[in-house]
Amino acid sequence: MSEPSYQTLLERLARYGQEHVLMGWEQWRPTERAVLAEQLEQIDLDLVRRLWQGELAGQEVQTLVERADSPPGVRLDGTGLPFSPSDARQHGQQLLRRGRVGVILVAGGQGTRLGFPHPKGMFPIGPISKKTLFQIHLEKVLAVGRRYGVSVPIYVMTSPATDGPTRQFLEQHGFFGLPAEDVVLFCQGVMPAVDAQTGKLLLEGPGRLALSPDGHGGLIPAMARTGVLQDAQQRGLEHFFYFQVDNPLTPVCDPLFLGWHGLTQSAMTTLVIAKRHPLERVGNVVSVDGRLYVIEYSDLPDALAHRRKPDGSLLLWAGSIAVHAIRVDFLARMAHQADRLPFHRARKKVPYLDAQGRLVHPDRPNAIKLERFIFDILPYAERAIVVEGDPKECFAPLKNAPGQPEDTPESVQAQMSELYTRWLRSVGVEVADGAPVEISPLFALDAEQLQGKIPPGARISQPTYFE
Ligand code: UD1
Repeated sequence: MSEPSYQTLLERLARYGQEHVLMGWEQWRPTERAVLAEQLEQIDLDLVRRLWQGELAGQEVQTLVERADSPPGVRLDGTGLPFSPSDARQHGQQLLRRGRVGVILVAGGQGTRLGFPHPKGMFPIGPISKKTLFQIHLEKVLAVGRRYGVSVPIYVMTSPATDGPTRQFLEQHGFFGLPAEDVVLFCQGVMPAVDAQTGKLLLEGPGRLALSPDGHGGLIPAMARTGVLQDAQQRGLEHFFYFQVDNPLTPVCDPLFLGWHGLTQSAMTTLVIAKRHPLERVGNVVSVDGRLYVIEYSDLPDALAHRRKPDGSLLLWAGSIAVHAIRVDFLARMAHQADRLPFHRARKKVPYLDAQGRLVHPDRPNAIKLERFIFDILPYAERAIVVEGDPKECFAPLKNAPGQPEDTPESVQAQMSELYTRWLRSVGVEVADGAPVEISPLFALDAEQLQGKIPPGARISQPTYFE
């Protein structure tokens, strides 16, 4: 690689008042110079400036919040849509059998809160098997394919920090039984962290900008750029089942969910739970002027979160568990208009080099990180709906380190074991209270698939793993 020209870089940076990043250039090794030049290639400095100046602010959350109403969709008891659950399930099964469904797994996050120094998907979460999140997710995809006699491709989005280790891990484990061509990894883009006071780019080391993933909304440009979207279209896929790496209870490709989505011809359908309390830390799916939006819990004023309908139930009841069914043609359309997706600004602590070149670890948020969110495409989706799921069946997110009050490895494992206990009891197996049980996705994907696999009247009183 030829040495990048100092003068060219300086001129480009100076246009945006960012020339400080070249501080110490004379002392850098050629590789450090090359790395900086490469990082700058990936960054749109004009965009960063405009975002910093607030020119590209998305729709004011406040104006949405005041007009927010309950979203349309189907409730847990099957009410809300003019179709029966059995019609929906059948429709979903047909979509699967016809090979129209692919899976998107977003796994580019840094998992800072969990304190696990690897991609979160590598966390061993199986209560007995200690299977990793990745293994559980990929085995579900394999099991769905076997159940419907098709191959189901899975597109895994990584970020620069998780890409290498994720590829290595999945290859090492033979993609957990899936054909290699059906597991497509692609890497999302990055955005620079800027100083919260000045808008200046931060350096994390000599010649190294502080960069972070551009949010799960980065999926859309990344899918177009890397050819993943085209791959899906060539395979004849019509719908994506989208989910996050942190939730081992995700009902991957659930036919009922896909069926509601398909029958209503919704461009994007979101699986939600009825919030268990008004301030639950989930995104709120709301309807404003006939369009769906997600308002993050952090943006929803308490008074509005507490608002109730005349029957006493919460007005903004629908908590997003970040599972979506998305039409492929809708995603392709949004890929052409990716500029419409706003960036969200988050204040974070980001270590940086000061003017003397010393590394500073700030003790309070000093920087702004800029991220896009996939759910910001929801307002553009025609006929979008929500589908309510039972949180005990579909939502156990791994977010926090052991010992925290919620969403920890212990709480997730307990929830997994409780779910499998219910499945076993539903087919007549006696499970002693507190006996941990686990069921491999390859053994059964749901209670229905357990039928006939275990002799009724069987008793379980110690840790048992069905595989
Ligand atoms: C997220 C949702 C929230 C939802 C909750 C359910 C956002 C902003 N909020 O919260 O509405 O109720 O999940 O558990 O998403 N990721 C990437 N690239 C990135 C950033 C994240 O791939 O640049 C992936 C992560 O790997 C993870 C997922 O997106 O799989 C969620 O990210 P995270 O930051 O953990 O979201 P939460 O704030 O927990």
